[in-house]
Amino acid sequence: MSKVDLATIGQFVGQEVTFGGWLTRKRSSGKIQFLQIRDGLGFIQGVLVKAETEESVWEKAGQLTQESSFYVTGTVREDPRSPSGFELSVTGIEIIQVAKDYPITPKEHGVDFLMDHRHLWLRAPRQRAILRIRAEIISAIQGFFDERNFTLVDPPVLTPSSCEGTTNLFHTKYFEEDAYLTQSGQLYMEAAAMALGKVYSFGPTFRAEKSKTRRHLIEFWMIEPEMAFVDHEENLNVQEQFIAHIVSRVLGNCKAELAVLERDISALERVLPPFPRITYDEALDLLKEIGMELPWGEDFGAPHETAIAEKFDRPVFITHYPASFKAFYMKPDPNRPEVVLCADMIAPEGYGEIIGGSQRIDDPELLEQRFAEHELSEEAYGWYMDLRRYGTVPHSGFGLGLERAVAWICGLDHVRETIAFPRTLYRLYP
Ligand code: 4AD
Ligand code: MG
Repeated sequence: MSKVDLATIGQFVGQEVTFGGWLTRKRSSGKIQFLQIRDGLGFIQGVLVKAETEESVWEKAGQLTQESSFYVTGTVREDPRSPSGFELSVTGIEIIQVAKDYPITPKEHGVDFLMDHRHLWLRAPRQRAILRIRAEIISAIQGFFDERNFTLVDPPVLTPSSCEGTTNLFHTKYFEEDAYLTQSGQLYMEAAAMALGKVYSFGPTFRAEKSKTRRHLIEFWMIEPEMAFVDHEENLNVQEQFIAHIVSRVLGNCKAELAVLERDISALERVLPPFPRITYDEALDLLKEIGMELPWGEDFGAPHETAIAEKFDRPVFITHYPASFKAFYMKPDPNRPEVVLCADMIAPEGYGEIIGGSQRIDDPELLEQRFAEHELSEEAYGWYMDLRRYGTVPHSGFGLGLERAVAWICGLDHVRETIAFPRTLYRLYP
């Protein structure tokens, strides 16, 4: 008999099948044993009725403890009452290992304990659902860009200089030279956009941020599209289409996983373009009205972002921030040079900024001036200047933080659950 798996078990109703699995939980009345079995791809309840079961099989079922591994044989039955829709009448068990004292029990555990056991915690239905949704989001992201003639380009991870300011850099040695783990592939993607027109990167980025919040990881994955001949407004249009596409793919393909997470689906169903756009100045007015006044020129913190997001039922763009606290490469608004042609996309429900993007400076003289102001050396950034010397064009791009998007779409309290092995402040194990 060939082995099956629980993702496709519905095709085998009425048939006897064999598959490998682990025991999640067991209930027994003395006359009947219920085995909750998972194989990674799905879940099923196995049933053994003592009077109808071979003695040795009944006895093996009795030995199974939480996370014991085994091959099981049985007949698949339809069962509308069970969450998977099916049930297994067990006729055979071949034990691989009886697991002793699995540390994660059905009782409540603290976060530190679970994080120390992250390698096992991944087996929980909730963690499985999150990783499935993350994979769906990744697939949706690739589909979106691949269908629109973007070319996937991989920027380097080891870099000689910074992209998003020098405070959060991870330093390492590159033989005799100093090197840094990348904070963003953007500058390299600008070079790639001049070669391929529309490009995107998808890779790990690193920020040594000493912030212990529910939105920050030290190592996170970023998607960074960059587009030649695309201006600020067009950049926003791409972003809202992009996010709506991701959410709709998850709604369409991850119903079971969203149900495990008890996600409020209606909040996601509202994520349709166009997304509202407000300027930084309008955001300040809005904050003033609710008693959260800030002086012009100051950046928002998480509470400000949450308060602004609460005014809208879908993601909102905040545009035209003061140049003073934004990155050196952002293009000033020609009508108002103290603000830049940028936007942060703020997710609903308090999840904060998920995208940061902008139109880039294309004028070589202005860029040189910025280099001087920010004390960036020609030595490190000379290649980037070349992009403005040889056929400069208007261009724009943005970066989506994958884990923030996963946290929002899954409705999670903290980004630490959005990636298999999160790197958080001071935690490098497991
Ligand atoms: O706003 P950021 O810093 O933008 C850039 O890096 C640009 N170079 C992107 C570009 O235009 N190509 O970061 C982009 C996004 C943020 O909106 C946020 O979602 C995520 O990256 N992000 C983090 N996610 C988790 N943990 C952190 N420490 C993060 N820092 C940024
Ligand atoms: Mg940002």
